Amino acid sequence: MEPILNKQPKFIGIAGATGYTGEELLRILKRHPYLSVEFVTSENEAGTALHDYYPDLQGYAGYRFIALEETVNFKVDLVFLCLPHGQSAQWARPFIQQNAKIVDLGADYRFDTPEEYKKWYDLDHPEPDLLSESVYGLPEWNREVIKTARIVGNPGCYPTSVLLGLLPLLKEKLITGNSVVVDSKSGVSGAGKSPSKTTHYVQVNENLTAYKAGRAHRHVGEMEQEIAKYSDFSLKVVFIPHLVPLTRGLYSTVTFQIHKDVTAQQMRDVLHQAYDAEPFVHVMDTILPGIKMATSSNHCFLAADVVEETRTGIVFSAIDNLGKGAAWQAVQNMNLMLGFPEETGLNA
Ligand SMILES: NC(=O)c1ccc[n+]([C@@H]2O[C@H](COP(=O)([O-])OP(=O)(O)OC[C@H]3O[C@@H](n4cnc5c(N)ncnc54)[C@H](OP(=O)(O)O)[C@@H]3O)[C@@H](O)[C@H]2O)c1
Repeated sequence: MEPILNKQPKFIGIAGATGYTGEELLRILKRHPYLSVEFVTSENEAGTALHDYYPDLQGYAGYRFIALEETVNFKVDLVFLCLPHGQSAQWARPFIQQNAKIVDLGADYRFDTPEEYKKWYDLDHPEPDLLSESVYGLPEWNREVIKTARIVGNPGCYPTSVLLGLLPLLKEKLITGNSVVVDSKSGVSGAGKSPSKTTHYVQVNENLTAYKAGRAHRHVGEMEQEIAKYSDFSLKVVFIPHLVPLTRGLYSTVTFQIHKDVTAQQMRDVLHQAYDAEPFVHVMDTILPGIKMATSSNHCFLAADVVEETRTGIVFSAIDNLGKGAAWQAVQNMNLMLGFPEETGLNA
């Protein structure tokens, strides 16, 4: 293994490696030239050989899952926490104490305050000090602070798709009104590996259902937190997520009121200005995005339009929920935090 730009290889741990985001990380990190995965955890599969659990995952011969408690024996530079919310909050501390950095793929380190976390997740945050130093891991908007952060809260899948489209338009003051309506469709892997009545194949196959519509979904809080940083007026999110019969992929259509005389071309120009230099966000001018464009990648595809009669702005956004919406974005954050070129291992 050749060091890159005089940097030494880094040592990585994955907590929650039997889940969907953990599996995706294992696949990406295998292609990353300057890392060594030191441990993979599972409580239910502790002791199981990784190859027995993922027979199709090449390159991890000799690896076994260990329980989180056993990770104290390992010295690593960064840990990906791919755990349910509530779990990551408490597991960040032991790794930080060993000078490891954290990328939490769950929601525990995405909020600016314990009060907002409690409001949306109905839990007292066990580590408010760590929460206050954590950084929201949307690299296109927070790149410089991510580089020096000890803890990054990797954004949620729905918020990633929505914020990438909205933030440039908010920053340039093209949006008005008091609400944005977010219609999102997600593949079923977004719900994690444990099946439930609503994610059962028989329920999802050849079906389309909305769920937690309005302001019931927890991602509303995360979206509003970040939106507030780029607008000088209150903008509420009306969110209508849907489950669609896809394994992976996420599509958001966001509508909002625009100021008089704002044109579709102006919206596209603002998006181009924000993202033309970005490797993973692409603004489309002639056709609309589709979910397949982003499958198994860190890419986000955006388009914008205007309905002049009603002064309605529309942004279309396609990502992979496990890609830019989770594991691939987590690796982008890791690259920034460890000083690797941002695109390392992410070219798909
Ligand atoms: N799926 C997505 O598209 C997506 C997108 C963005 C963010 N996220 C977030 O990322 C995190 C992981 O998501 P996922 O979809 O990978 O979840 P998942 O498929 O349900 O996997 C969860 C992982 O956490 C482990 N785990 C569960 N309960 C645990 C506990 N009490 N203590 C320790 N480990 C425990 C599981 O291990 P064992 O069961 O083997 O013990 C498994 O490895 C979640 O917070 C989720 O909200 C997911």
